[in-house]
Amino acid sequence: MITVETVASLRDQVARFRQNGKRIAFVPTMGNLHAGHVRLMQEARRHAPVVVASIYVNPLQFGENEDFNSYPRTPSHDKVALLSAGVDMLFKPAESEIYPRGKTAQTFVETPGLSEDLCGAFRPGHFRGVATVVNRLFNLVMPDVAIFGKKDYQQWLIVRLMTADLGLPVEILGVDTVREPDGLALSSRNHYLSSDERNLAPRLYETLVTLRDRICEKNMGFDTVEENAIVELEESGFRPEYVSVRRQSDLQKPIPDDRQLVALAAAWLGKTRLIDNIEFELKS
Ligand code: PAF
Repeated sequence: MITVETVASLRDQVARFRQNGKRIAFVPTMGNLHAGHVRLMQEARRHAPVVVASIYVNPLQFGENEDFNSYPRTPSHDKVALLSAGVDMLFKPAESEIYPRGKTAQTFVETPGLSEDLCGAFRPGHFRGVATVVNRLFNLVMPDVAIFGKKDYQQWLIVRLMTADLGLPVEILGVDTVREPDGLALSSRNHYLSSDERNLAPRLYETLVTLRDRICEKNMGFDTVEENAIVELEESGFRPEYVSVRRQSDLQKPIPDDRQLVALAAAWLGKTRLIDNIEFELKS
């Protein structure tokens, strides 16, 4: 695996891959890689002979009181995961390579509306930071295809909208969430959970499964199942931010004809913020 740390050496390597006519698949990450990331890299391999991954903990997507400083940075562990996933090149830039004029002076990318909804309502500026860094990474890596996890469903949709709006020639693919055997979605932030919290954490997914079944099998209304889910999460010891049923295509509130739905939730367990979602289809 080639590791590059500067934009100049990245561009050099990308040009070489391109000269040989090779397609590039790209997996952007913030490191602390787990089986969910490895799955993204395996999917990348199915779409291109060259797989490029990046590891960059992007300060622009963290709020002032969020976990930028404590976000797990595990370079030796990550290297093993990247090698096992067969990644061809790792881009591991310093902040000065990504934001050479400083992160506050940086030109940014905004996706209005959706960026302020759901997670965006509780994390102001988060999706602006995500869209800005992903756009810059796309311009540097120049991939043909980029792979994102659907655990971050809203992020996946925002990246797709941004890519279309800016006319970037990158195909955006989403990969299903990888879960622990008890249902907990894999996430780097799961490391923050105490052992008691870890035992409770799968209830977030269980709540979404119950919500889906109440809609699909018991025909219950969206407002009722969302309210029930909030109460049940609170009773289990979570501090829920939202539970919301949306349509898959644009994350707007469903209208009666919508069939392809996704229920999304964010909730705190102690000091850890967990998110999850479940896609489902309504039978007509
Ligand atoms: O999902 C992530 O790990 C990050 O938000 C991403 C896409 C790498 C941008 O920093």
